[in-house]
Order: sequence, then C-alpha cells, then structure tokens
Amino acid sequence: MPILRVNTNVDAYRLRSQCADIHELAARPNRKSLTQFVNRRILDVIQLVPEDFVVDIGCGDGSLQRMANGSVAKCIGITGSIEEERRLKSECPELTFIAGQAQSLPLDSGCASKIVCNATLLLLPSEDDIEAALKEMVRIARPGATIWIGEIPEINEYAYYGMYRGTSMLGLQWHLLRHDGVRSFLGMIRRSLKALIGREKIILNSAGIFYAGPAKVISMAENCGLRLKAYFRHKELDASGKVVNSEFRYDYIFTI
Ligand SMILES: C[S@@+](CC[C@H](N)C(=O)[O-])C[C@H]1O[C@@H](n2cnc3c(N)ncnc32)[C@H](O)[C@@H]1O
Repeated sequence: MPILRVNTNVDAYRLRSQCADIHELAARPNRKSLTQFVNRRILDVIQLVPEDFVVDIGCGDGSLQRMANGSVAKCIGITGSIEEERRLKSECPELTFIAGQAQSLPLDSGCASKIVCNATLLLLPSEDDIEAALKEMVRIARPGATIWIGEIPEINEYAYYGMYRGTSMLGLQWHLLRHDGVRSFLGMIRRSLKALIGREKIILNSAGIFYAGPAKVISMAENCGLRLKAYFRHKELDASGKVVNSEFRYDYIFTI
C-alpha cells in the first residue's frame, strides 16, 4: 500500500474504513477495551429508556450502537463518509448507520431524544463548522433531549504530544528525528520502504484539532441554543486498566 496524503479528518476516516480491523474507525489504536469503556460510560450517564431515539454523531466502530441495540426504539450511527457507512453495514447488518456530516445531519428536525457526539467535534475543521454542528444538534433534538458532547481537549494535544501534522514524508521523518530520536526515525524509514513496495500503509494527515476550555465550549454551545446541565473531566483507562481522569479532555451534557 502506498503513502496516502489527506487534508481533512473526513478523508482520514474514509481511508481507515479499509483497515482490516473495524476498530480503526474509533481511532484508539490497540485499545478496544477503552472504546468499550468510553461508550459504556456514555450510555450509563445518559440513561437510555425504551422509547429513546438515539443519534450517535461520529459513531466510529459502532460500539455504542451494538451496546444500545434492542434496548431503545431507534439508534442511528452517523458516519462521516459513505465508505464507513458501507463497512459498518456489512459487519453489523442488524444496526442502522447513515453517512452524513455533523454540520448538516441527514435527519428530521425534532427526532432525537438522546444525542451523542463523542470524540468527533474536535475533528471539525473550523469554529464555523463546530457552530453548524451544534445548531444541527439543536435542530434534531426533541424538547428536553439529552445531548452528550465528549472528549473536547482544552489544549492543542497534537502540539503538546509533539505529533506530526502534515503531508510531507520528509517532514515527518525530520519531525521524528527531532522529537522522538534516532530509533523512531529509523523505524519510519523502514516503514516507508515497506510502503513503497506495497507492504505497509502510511496515512499523512495535515488536519488540525479543535480545542477549547469549558468556558469557551459552553459559551459556543449556549449561543447555538443548547443549555448546560453538567460538565466534567473525561474518564479513561490507564495502561493498567484503572479509571482515571483525562489530562486535557472534558465531557459535557446539554439539553434544549
Ligand atoms: C474518534 S472517532 C469517535 C468514535 C466514537 N464516537 C467513539 O468515541 O468511540 C471519530 C468519528 O467522527 C467521524 N467524523 C469525522 N468528521 C466528521 C464529520 N464532519 N461529520 C460526521 N462525522 C465525522 C468519523 O467518521 C468517526 O466515526
């Protein structure tokens, strides 16, 4: 497989849909148990009832749909691309997935009693897109609906963790040499040689990340018509499986 270059997160997930393991769509490499934990916790917090119409915007590998299946009236997973929709439908034909953008949801106004948007808003390209997505949540929400917006980092995590964002292979190698040292640099040389002969896939993505602290997120959401019920630090699992607070990410619960 070649070296692939993308400039948007939607395209990055479109490519992920071709990976052997469908869990790639949740973007938590080798941490399936974390995806299970995160989605189980969302369902615990939003407390489903049998009459619920659930919409999960940016549904990843469909974990939340699998967990909710059978316990609510309807549960729809929104995928950012048609390729992800096809992949999920082929692996889980009993569940409902619809391709659509968070900024213009392919759903009727006032249909949803529970809306989940976890680890997805941060992927949108601009604050205008975030506002469009927030307004779409308001549009599709029933009065009194519960809206979970999760994993919004308060800092630029890419910069903090020294992650490369760009589409230049040379740029990536230089970045690894400077930030992670010779071992990492040589590892990438080896991977890029394998990619050239079709035995490895490297995706280079230049898209950034949205980040904002609680004051800004709450103000943006309230300006779009949402009403805050609670917010807290996002919970995750550490390497030993212990539940810990995320260093930088927050979860929010809104209603309308
Ligand atoms: C990190 S995954 C989150 C998966 C899941 N919510 C979870 O927490 O396990 C990001 C998801 O956002 C979706 N996505 C990215 N950009 C999107 C957009 N503009 N509109 C809708 N979904 C989008 C991707 O397709 C992917 O399903």
